[in-house]
Amino acid sequence: MDNRPIGIFDSGIGGLTILTEVRARMPGEDILYLGDTARVPYGSRSKRIVTEYTKEAVRFLLQEGVKAIIIACNTASALAMDDLESAVNGTPLFGVVKPGARGAAAHTVSGKVGVIGTEATVRSRAYQTHVRRLKKGAEVIGIGCPLFVPIIEEGWQNSQVAMLTAQTYLSGFFQHNIDTLILGCTHYPAMWSTIRQVMGDTVYLINPAYETAKEVQTSLREKERLSEREEGGKVRYTVTDSPERFKRVGGFLITETIYEAEKVELLSNR
Ligand code: DGL
Repeated sequence: MDNRPIGIFDSGIGGLTILTEVRARMPGEDILYLGDTARVPYGSRSKRIVTEYTKEAVRFLLQEGVKAIIIACNTASALAMDDLESAVNGTPLFGVVKPGARGAAAHTVSGKVGVIGTEATVRSRAYQTHVRRLKKGAEVIGIGCPLFVPIIEEGWQNSQVAMLTAQTYLSGFFQHNIDTLILGCTHYPAMWSTIRQVMGDTVYLINPAYETAKEVQTSLREKERLSEREEGGKVRYTVTDSPERFKRVGGFLITETIYEAEKVELLSNR
């Protein structure tokens, strides 16, 4: 048994969708959430920069004594995961890309899978690579949807603006007849019903946050590192810029009220 917190890292507020899934499955766990709100968005940045920022975040979480780390940010998972293993000194490390890809590979029947995410995530082809590794011959089509994040952060996920934007981006999938679509960005589960309306009922939507929480629970159970508490876990929120916007906009992604968020400094690796 291990009562130390689980660290969840995201570029900003998006990781709150993963926090929700982790809390639903493991309500007894304490969580230390870190949002790099001073440097968000990561989705238009290079692999080098995203890796550097993510390493700084991981170092902070380790210094705070977490027992496991979830890289909730899809962009950071897609671009930086391979370079992090050496930085975590054996602490269990989870990204969202592999569990999301596993969910898609398990669900697709036709082998035609779509993935949406930030420009950097789609360009990295990380989801494509992992799905194809698990499902031989799969055809994985990626479309970057950069406007979804600001729309969701305005709280407009169910508006006409969201609908038009989704129709414009997602129409690129229609000629491919996909049967499964990975929502490969932390924010997109908040736009579930708009995406569902555009894609129709026959396309199965994969939420990597859900798949990741499942994997974290199984893995920590096997390692006997779950908390001994069954419920009542606490969340400590930390951010790298003013907490005010985080608390307000975070409310669009999470049902719990964020009363407190602490501003912290990340130390440069250089
Ligand atoms: N958290 C990011 C992701 O899941 C979206 C926001 C950003 O671009 O930083 O890819």
